[in-house]
Amino acid sequence: MKRTVLVTGATGTLGRDLVAVLRERGHEVRGLSRSKPGHAHGDLLTGEGLAAALDGVDVVVHAATDGRRDVAAAGKLIEAMKAGGRPQLVFVSIVGVDRIPLGYYKDKVTIERMVAAYGGTSLRASQFHDLVLTLAKALTTLPLIGFYPAFDLRPVEVHDVAVRLAEIVEGDLPATPGDFSGPQRRSGRDLWRAYLRQAGKRRLLVPVRLPGRIFRALRAGAGTGPGGGTGTWEEFLLRRR
Ligand SMILES: NC(=O)c1ccc[n+]([C@@H]2O[C@H](COP(=O)([O-])OP(=O)(O)OC[C@H]3O[C@@H](n4cnc5c(N)ncnc54)[C@H](OP(=O)(O)O)[C@@H]3O)[C@@H](O)[C@H]2O)c1
Repeated sequence: MKRTVLVTGATGTLGRDLVAVLRERGHEVRGLSRSKPGHAHGDLLTGEGLAAALDGVDVVVHAATDGRRDVAAAGKLIEAMKAGGRPQLVFVSIVGVDRIPLGYYKDKVTIERMVAAYGGTSLRASQFHDLVLTLAKALTTLPLIGFYPAFDLRPVEVHDVAVRLAEIVEGDLPATPGDFSGPQRRSGRDLWRAYLRQAGKRRLLVPVRLPGRIFRALRAGAGTGPGGGTGTWEEFLLRRR
């Protein structure tokens, strides 16, 4: 069924792809942005523009983040949705937020609860390939030596996440769509080696191990998820070259 969808974070890594996927599938899509032309103008922190952006919308996919004030932003969004036509709500969360005690993840758990109380649903995705590439680049900038996280990751192709979200938008919005991650669980070392090979760089790779509960949870695979996506790290790297 064709739906009218508002995507928050429409100019972000996921949002850009999601807007394109939803449009390809025949939906009427409105993207929210604080400043980018071609989008509905709105700010989730001030509430400015939200009522107009939500007008006539069937579903909201909430994919905006500023990394710091996301609980307040989600509160404003839900408030505006309640005051409007009470559209359905799909929130993008992260695999392992309830097991890995990072501050950003705690906020995600809080928002998941707010979304559930509204009657919406959350999809937890693992790290996008784009983020893992940013990390791999940042940790291998020294000329001879590079650092890699000493735990497994299961990164996912952002397009696969966008397609999964579109399927949720089109379906009956199950209360728990489940976790979603990439096709391969890989060690940090293995991922970094593949990146270095593709980039034509050589580095002596040194594992980064940290004490504490966050690292323990990551070592236990709390962020990896069950799979579901098909795009691999190597395919992503090849496209990025
Ligand atoms: N990156 C990952 O590996 C990953 C993995 C799993 C889940 N996720 C989740 O997926 C979602 C999308 O992540 P992403 O990496 O695509 O994010 P992103 O690239 O950082 O984009 C976030 C977008 O949020 C918008 N935004 C920020 N503050 C806003 C505000 N006050 N009002 C309105 N819009 C605002 C910005 O748009 P404007 O500047 O145009 O306003 C920005 O383009 C997030 O919830 C993230 O936690 C990410």
